[in-house]
Amino acid sequence: MLTALRSQAMCGIVGYAGARSALEVVLNGLRRLEYRGYDSAGVAIVDGGVLQIEKRAGKLSNLEKAIAENGFDTSAGTGIGHTRWATHGAPTDRNAHPHVSVDGRVAVIHNGIIENFAKLRLELEERGVEFSSDTDTECVAHLLALELTTHTSAQDSTTLPEGALAAAMRRVCQRLEGAFTLLAVHADAPGVVVGARRNSPLVVGCGDGEYFLASDVAAFIEHTREAIELGQDQVVEISAAGVTITDFFGTPATGNSFHVAWDVSAAEKGGYDYFMLKEIAEQPQAVADTLRGRLTETGEIMLDEVRLSDQDLRDVDKVFIVACGTAYHAGLVAKYAIEHWTRIPCEVELASEFRYRDPVLDRSTLVVAISQSGETMDTLMAVRHAKEQKARVLAICNTNGSSIPRESDAVLYTHAGPEIAVASTKAFLTQLVACYLVGLHLAQVRGIKYADEVAAVVEQLQQMPAAVEAVLGTMEPVRELARSLAGSPSVLFIGRHVGYPVALEGALKLKELAYMHAEGFAAGELKHGPIALIDKGTPVFVVVPSPRGRGVLHDKVISNIQEVRARGARVIAIAEEGDAAVEPFADHVIRVPRTPTLLSPLVATVPLQVFACEVAATRGHDVDQPRNLAKSVTVE
Ligand code: AGP
Repeated sequence: MLTALRSQAMCGIVGYAGARSALEVVLNGLRRLEYRGYDSAGVAIVDGGVLQIEKRAGKLSNLEKAIAENGFDTSAGTGIGHTRWATHGAPTDRNAHPHVSVDGRVAVIHNGIIENFAKLRLELEERGVEFSSDTDTECVAHLLALELTTHTSAQDSTTLPEGALAAAMRRVCQRLEGAFTLLAVHADAPGVVVGARRNSPLVVGCGDGEYFLASDVAAFIEHTREAIELGQDQVVEISAAGVTITDFFGTPATGNSFHVAWDVSAAEKGGYDYFMLKEIAEQPQAVADTLRGRLTETGEIMLDEVRLSDQDLRDVDKVFIVACGTAYHAGLVAKYAIEHWTRIPCEVELASEFRYRDPVLDRSTLVVAISQSGETMDTLMAVRHAKEQKARVLAICNTNGSSIPRESDAVLYTHAGPEIAVASTKAFLTQLVACYLVGLHLAQVRGIKYADEVAAVVEQLQQMPAAVEAVLGTMEPVRELARSLAGSPSVLFIGRHVGYPVALEGALKLKELAYMHAEGFAAGELKHGPIALIDKGTPVFVVVPSPRGRGVLHDKVISNIQEVRARGARVIAIAEEGDAAVEPFADHVIRVPRTPTLLSPLVATVPLQVFACEVAATRGHDVDQPRNLAKSVTVE
């Protein structure tokens, strides 16, 4: 089965129609989006009946060099540009955007994933279309060309009738499933750029006799601060004369107009003070994007690059998860899910310890390496050790083409998009989602779970973006609490079951951001020593399990709250809506939506991320670049 080279939901997209040099405007716009990271870039310029296309893997400078060598006409005023943060398929010139129709007249760039790509590609190939890339995006270029051939008469061969490209885009979008931001230009439609969006951002920049399209206002706010955010399932056409917005069926529509008050630096952060805040806010989208398209029509869980047979996975009799830091905490959560769903023993090891303890590994061992960057040397060395011991390795990674997935036997990419802040947030939530998917895939392949049982859990997971969104909307009391506790010498975090890794993650966030002593414990461990740490007023976060899950766990955590409260602790409970049992014993209760026990870390972690960020900001620290830390630790 063809697996789409999914475009990452954080690609940079820029379009221009006006009197300036489209090439300069588009390249400048892509530079503004450079902070997001990418591994290929390309442009398409409409110039006197031809499309000038250039695209290159690697940095923008590779593209600029190619453009300089090919002598683009810089006077043309219509063009589109794209930077791809790929999470699928090697970042090569061939897979870079724009993608062009067979007749060379239509160029398309894309952000997102077209879930019914395989069916569309089959239909196009049956109509004689030859593909030149493996991307889902290329389908759109061919479909647009076919629509235009069908709906424009021969005498229009020199110029496209007004509105023809937008009409073709509407008809094509009616056939697409998934998430997409699309921009298209046509060689015979100078001065026109058409865009469309579903579940992926697209904004219009409204200049004086010139218009812009972009995935992010940072691309054009040096030219105009008047913007229109497109709504769901809308198509937009820009030209020097103006902007026209409709729905996918041609009904006129209006986007959401707004004035961009940010400066360029703030725009890169989406208006937030820090990338970390932006990335915390992106978590619902990141979780949704990581889930998108994972369940095939026949109910199978689809990983990304799988160089392991189902039999290899059926032969697995032991799972080791290796990772560092936050990724390690994701592994600790995964252990509960994998053992519960697959009944395979699962150990979680710090990557830096793994190979030095000479673990027992063989061909029936599956090592799952979790890494946002894919370059963490401790984890990479653990992968190499596992391979030397003939174990199978599956990577969960957020960065396409990085070392760890390249050296693994199978890969499941998270779709968090570039994570700029050193403190990992959205990568963590998407690592949890990826771990759940791996557990479900293993359970399914081994026949422990039927397709309907897997689908039921995926359905629960699909409720999580909204649950995370709900938590994000209630964080003001957490920020107030953070400001009031910013002077504390220490904060403790306790939890049971999957709440224990959440406690560890909350402590790590506070350590690395606020430079404050913080420690996470299994709640049942307190009485074996750590409770001596409790003093009058010691803040203790308690991650309370759902009373609807394993009730005994809930009751034991309530007892743990009473233990620490009796010794003077200031208790901050994270508990699900409706759980009244905590109220008599907690100084503060932070409510999270009801979720299935195993999925609860997706919501319980968010208040701890917000808390740590606010404490750091209150202490005047550099939230995005904490002292002594690097985003990717490429030394052992
Ligand atoms: C988490 O906030 C830290 N930035 C750090 O612990 C990080 O999770 C760890 O270094 C692992 O990085 P990786 O996911 O890129 O391998």
